[in-house]
Amino acid sequence: MSETQTSLLRPRVLSGMRPTGKLHLGNYMGALANWVKLQDEDKYDCYFFIADLHALTTDYADTSAIEPNTLEVALDFLAAGLDPQRSTIFVQSQVVQHFELPLLLGMITPLGWLERVPSYKEMQENLANKDLTTFGFLGYPVLMASDILLYQPQFVPVGQDQQAHVELTREIARRFNQFYKFGEHEVLPEPKVLLTPSPKLPGTDGRKMSKSYGNTIQMTDPEPVVRQKLKTMVTDPARVRRTDKGDPDKCPVGDLHKVFSSSDTLAKVYDGCRSAGIGCIECKGWAADALVQILKPIQERRASYSAPQVLEILEDGSHRARARAEQTMEEVRSAMHLPFASANGR
Ligand code: TRP
Ligand code: SF4
Repeated sequence: MSETQTSLLRPRVLSGMRPTGKLHLGNYMGALANWVKLQDEDKYDCYFFIADLHALTTDYADTSAIEPNTLEVALDFLAAGLDPQRSTIFVQSQVVQHFELPLLLGMITPLGWLERVPSYKEMQENLANKDLTTFGFLGYPVLMASDILLYQPQFVPVGQDQQAHVELTREIARRFNQFYKFGEHEVLPEPKVLLTPSPKLPGTDGRKMSKSYGNTIQMTDPEPVVRQKLKTMVTDPARVRRTDKGDPDKCPVGDLHKVFSSSDTLAKVYDGCRSAGIGCIECKGWAADALVQILKPIQERRASYSAPQVLEILEDGSHRARARAEQTMEEVRSAMHLPFASANGR
């Protein structure tokens, strides 16, 4: 069976990420590791992309970081183990259909739906230094719905924070299908959320690991940096002196052990911490060991790609994505009776 035939039979999966620059362990555990698992299961036809146009919704006033950040994220995708032979890896703006479908879906999306999206008001308040009273920022969910629906995927693996957006995508698809028909099947099938299990991953200050808190461990951090960051990481506040007993369940370092350490090490951490048999310095050393081990193959893979290779992989992935997206657009244009749009020099 040819590659295209197998990809026709397998359910499609699509997800994306904003180009925030070099990714951290939270991004890895909360998304990438799960994407790689889906790819490796071999059951799905996988599409993963970098949402560079989404960066414009908040960073339109200074766009200079978008290109370098996009390339860093692409490298982190590959470093994590996404394989361009098995997954279609692409850049949103390199697939022109991502400019086309949002305009059409925007015509049928009621303003009330957009104003009701929970992240809308919240982000406007959080990013008060930016003027987000724009058409583009309000329309962000239409952009995201288009990203998804262009590939007619069955599943969208995302974290809980993106669930409301996929719900809205389903509502927009439903409305489209009510207005416009083409043949027997629905033009824009409603995709399902595939909720990514995301373990609690604290940053060095004990809060959720996040770029905006400046408390991250980067996927690219070399061993000495990882060890240094662990050394200054906060611990169970009850353990002030070496002789104080502590509780790994109240310690961010304990949370790291739960995610990354072997059950043997974890047992030693619980015993040693609760009996004050070990010191925090030793315990943090073990956590650093576990992180270094996870990061090693990731960093080796990252180093194996040159910049021109990454560009070629994205070019090739975007080429494949365009072909798939165009298939959907042909149905969309026909269903909407837009024959002139079809003759658009393609
Ligand atoms: N909104 C997502 C985020 O901020 C990124 C994204 C854009 C996305 N388009 C998507 C995720 C389509 C899944 C599917 O992380
Ligand atoms: Fe945290 Fe480990 Fe210290 Fe216990 S021994 S408080 S788990 S760093």
